[in-house]
Amino acid sequence: MNEVLIIDYGSQYTRLLARKIREFEVYSRVEDPSNAKISNDTAGIILSGGPMSVYEEGALPLTDIILKSGLPILGICYGMQLLAKNFGGRISKGKSFEYGLTFVRLHESPLFSTFPSHIKTWMNHGDAVERLPDGFEKVAESESGMIAAFESVTRRIYALQFHPEVHQTEYGDEMIKKFVFEICGAKPEWKMKDLIGTEISLTKKKIGNSKVIGAVSGGVDSAVAALLVSKAIGNNLISIFVDHGFLRFEDLAVPCILEKAGVTVKKVDASGLFLENLKNCSDPEEKRKIIGRTFIEVFEREARTYGSRWLLQGTIYSDVIESAAASSSSSKIKSHHNVGGLPEKMNLKLIEPLRELFKDEVREVGKMLGLPPEIINRHPFPGPGLAIRIIGEVTREKADILRRTDKILTDTLRKHREYEKIWQAFAVLLPVKSVGVKGDARSYGYVVAIRAVDSIEGMTASWHELPYTLMREISSKITDEVPEIGRVVYDISDKPPATIEWE
Ligand code: XMP
Repeated sequence: MNEVLIIDYGSQYTRLLARKIREFEVYSRVEDPSNAKISNDTAGIILSGGPMSVYEEGALPLTDIILKSGLPILGICYGMQLLAKNFGGRISKGKSFEYGLTFVRLHESPLFSTFPSHIKTWMNHGDAVERLPDGFEKVAESESGMIAAFESVTRRIYALQFHPEVHQTEYGDEMIKKFVFEICGAKPEWKMKDLIGTEISLTKKKIGNSKVIGAVSGGVDSAVAALLVSKAIGNNLISIFVDHGFLRFEDLAVPCILEKAGVTVKKVDASGLFLENLKNCSDPEEKRKIIGRTFIEVFEREARTYGSRWLLQGTIYSDVIESAAASSSSSKIKSHHNVGGLPEKMNLKLIEPLRELFKDEVREVGKMLGLPPEIINRHPFPGPGLAIRIIGEVTREKADILRRTDKILTDTLRKHREYEKIWQAFAVLLPVKSVGVKGDARSYGYVVAIRAVDSIEGMTASWHELPYTLMREISSKITDEVPEIGRVVYDISDKPPATIEWE
């Protein structure tokens, strides 16, 4: 009994919750409401929040499997309203908005013991529980008098209107811990290395003796995925490193580093094909789709050569959620090339062992597998590479300009030890030229934007406060050493409202 099952009703925070529980060293699994399975190990169930209203048509339901399990249940936001509705309470629809920081008064409850009686919480709801079901007790109310938590200790059912999993809620982590350890009785026995073992044996079972084509890019995710799967199936993994023409200098060294770690890598230069397919394309979504399709074209060709039906990808959780493939009710931000950018029909079946993990968890797995720090500590790099950092139509010449600019930026950040303080830093080539003066003569060069952001998992980000002296050094070096560039600007947009990448 050492696993918490999270039923995903579409909240952007669901995986954050799963990851928090894993950090408490208890395994947590996220499942869709319709096919959630309870195992002998399940110690408790959490019903996540979600964007729907419990009375609306098609609202995701609470299934009998969960209700009849007899296990402790914690409902959060939509999950709380589902519990109230299922046990005979009443919900008011669209009248009781509470968004953002809200003060809540706590009463006595096993979830709140030892906390102060007034705490700040994070709310995000338009519906509210108006009347409690029989046998349940209100244990918290918000400043405006709305029910903020209720419970039935005897039935081991707890419900919170606010989100304990977001950092803005005071004592949120402690509440989750009380549920997991004290109410569900789980033990902190799970370690990230257990996940490696589980994934290795699952992959072995799934693949048997077949061959797998592994997609390796310049990034940490695909490197970790390749190493993990090579531990499971050895030489039956054929890792393909596709040069799509939009790689950075440092990416080109990746095959060599992976080979040293024991993964054989085949290099394929497909830059001509990618450039040809991207001709006349300047729409960001279209670009991502074309790149996704072209990758598959290359991998299918390789798969035919090796007689393989499987494709390994280093998809991680943020790729899934931003491509709106996480659950039927989340909204699409952009098609990450290894998720939403895939063609509808392809002849390869996917293996994505890191799909549930956040970036820092992937890095931890990489470290355990023995990947060197130069790969693990790299900033994230998107599958479509520099192509989505060249705004507008891409050309070989522009990719070359950006590649040289990127190297100057990265080298300078590394030299000043600023690189490690930043989640991700890169240059973006704009489709704009501006007038300047170089050596007493008029110049007319491209504008490049520098983006550096702080983030924890890429889902939100704030622009990084680079020291001015460093900004000056970066700017001068770029305009001195890349003659095609005439102006450097710094991006001061957070995510939201902007995304990290420009396209
Ligand atoms: P955005 O731009 O959506 O990026 O704020 C969030 C994080 O995801 C990376 N990213 C991608 N990674 N394929 C990837 O493998 C993609 O298509 C892709 N698009 C964005 C981005 O670099 C950032 O770290």
